[in-house]
Amino acid sequence: MNSSSNRPVGVFDSGIGGLTVAQAIKKTLPNEQFLYFGDTAHLPYGEKSSNAIKQYILDIGQFLIEKGCKALVIACNSASSVFDTYPELAEQLPIKVIDVIIPVVQEVAHSNGSEIGIIGTHQTIGSGVYENKLLEENPGLRVQSLATPLLAPMIEEGFINNKISKAVIHDYLKQFDHLESLILGCTHYPLVKPEINNYFEGKVNLLD
Ligand code: DGL
Repeated sequence: MNSSSNRPVGVFDSGIGGLTVAQAIKKTLPNEQFLYFGDTAHLPYGEKSSNAIKQYILDIGQFLIEKGCKALVIACNSASSVFDTYPELAEQLPIKVIDVIIPVVQEVAHSNGSEIGIIGTHQTIGSGVYENKLLEENPGLRVQSLATPLLAPMIEEGFINNKISKAVIHDYLKQFDHLESLILGCTHYPLVKPEINNYFEGKVNLLD
């Protein structure tokens, strides 16, 4: 096996969304090697049960450990919401596991205004993990959560920056009241960030 410093960091998602995370990590840690796993066989994760997603996390984690990974990034909010709900999962994976929800909550809770929106899959929004953790950190926030289940499959199918994506995004986002910041609670969503920004005319801080 390679010495620890040369071993790759495993990154996974249900599809291409986690590549937005891998790209961001690569920018910060340019000398790291990465091994990316896109579980397109099970996409969309957002519509799967927690039990099914638990098993995907364990199977993919085990696979990436066997490939020599020294750490695992769950580059998927739906899987992160399951990971954060079931602490026994961390005990079953003998390497450092980093999810994408906790870092966003820590960044957002005190520094992005008090009117916070969250969009994500049915799994992520239904779990209540973002909302609960944000309010634990800062009970003064007003948090509005909205499941936007069409977005990830739409993006995965390449419907980006066209009239279909515009209509879907508009229809979902019109349901929000006034917002100061919006958490893009799915790693596919940065791929339509300019369209979301257009909808809000640049007046809402978008966090991914
Ligand atoms: N990119 C994922 C997330 O952050 C998964 C989307 C899906 O497969 O439903 O939730």
